[in-house]
Amino acid sequence: MTAPRRPISLDVTRALAGDGRPLPVGLADLAGRQEALSAAADALRARQDRGEVGFLGLDWAGWQVDRAEAVAARLAEHSDTLLVLGIGGSALGARALDSALGPGSGHTDRSSGRRIVVLDSVDPTRVASTLADLDPRRTAIVTISKSGGTVETAALFRVFLPWLKAGVGSRWSQRLAVITDRERGALRPLAREYGLAALPIPDDVGGRFSVLTSVGMLPAAYLGLDVAALKAGAEAMRESVCQPDLESNPAWRFAALHDAWWGHANISVLVSYCDRLAAAGEWFQQLWGESLGKIRPDGVSVGWTPVRAQGPVDQHSQLQLWQEGPRDKLITIVRVADHGTSVEIPALSGPEDGVGSYLAGRSLEALVDAERRGTTAALVDAGRPVAELCVDRVDAYSIGALVVFFEQATALTGVLAGVDPFDQPGVEAGKRFAYGLMGRAGFEADGERGRTLLGEG
Ligand code: PA5
Repeated sequence: MTAPRRPISLDVTRALAGDGRPLPVGLADLAGRQEALSAAADALRARQDRGEVGFLGLDWAGWQVDRAEAVAARLAEHSDTLLVLGIGGSALGARALDSALGPGSGHTDRSSGRRIVVLDSVDPTRVASTLADLDPRRTAIVTISKSGGTVETAALFRVFLPWLKAGVGSRWSQRLAVITDRERGALRPLAREYGLAALPIPDDVGGRFSVLTSVGMLPAAYLGLDVAALKAGAEAMRESVCQPDLESNPAWRFAALHDAWWGHANISVLVSYCDRLAAAGEWFQQLWGESLGKIRPDGVSVGWTPVRAQGPVDQHSQLQLWQEGPRDKLITIVRVADHGTSVEIPALSGPEDGVGSYLAGRSLEALVDAERRGTTAALVDAGRPVAELCVDRVDAYSIGALVVFFEQATALTGVLAGVDPFDQPGVEAGKRFAYGLMGRAGFEADGERGRTLLGEG
């Protein structure tokens, strides 16, 4: 019998004191958090049982993945481009899946001939160029908003609906789907009125934890990604992140590591040595930042500032700061063991340039790996903490696993820090000010207060 595949592993050794590393955090600090982790996991489970927190306990039928696949197939009958309108947790997951696994990854052999365009911007130039570039006759639209009222998505919806209607006439409703809250989503009445395909976001799953619900699964299915493998990877990781010990549970280790470093550092850098994981870094940044940056009940502000970076690009941009700048960072380096593609570096056919003969016959994978190891060595040499997250290869199974790993690690880190990782009062306050400043009824007082704060009143 072959051993079950473990698509990701986390090594925190180089983020801990020992072997000549004079760091303020050691293995004992992690081990000392075992009980707190157990209590945090129990607290999350209790919230899951009360129907408040659903990302880890979703059953596949509840996620309506089959319906998402059916709707995607219907949209694909009329289009080769799916325009995804959403923002934050309603956009970043789809982009991460596309960038890792879809045509956005640059892997043309994975392409179904369809693509998604995620529009999470109301920048007029960007929107105008999207309107100009896309052909409504070959485009389907999915509008994703849990609340249904988020101003950016509401505005984009209003811009693109007449564009679609003008382009395809009465057939527009076959090319439009909405994903929103089961009952309260403001897009529901519209969907009912026009008989649009409408998929739910489960009540107990917040935007940034929703990538493996229809929010990410519909775009994934549209792209022809292996949805079953995404689910299988997620399920396998669900088991791992429920193990009650540090040794076998990578989410516990990641959370314990950050909790132990809190006070010594407050910036969490995630550097990925794989371009296909760049958008996953953006998704992580939102998950980590919005979940953890909070005021604790005792009034103290906490939270790790997430920084996403790409290797080797950011070696020529940020590495200097990580090595010699303030000792306020905990760095996680993401390695992909097998890139699945090989590119050999040939010898120069003309005169040798004198600087690159050692490269001839080597591969770009070997170069990326040497750069990753070089960066790690430089950071360790400078006495900086480095955790190493290894992904065996980038496929649907490992991405499903990675999502669940980061979601549970984030949730646990928040509970250990004494905050609610699932709310976002700051985001909501910003939304209210924007509604008020744009004159939305019911938000007059927010508009007034916003103007006063800005000195415009
Ligand atoms: O994670 C979150 O809850 C937020 O980032 C939301 O996803 C974002 O604000 C968009 O909200 P909505 O889906 O309601 O439009």
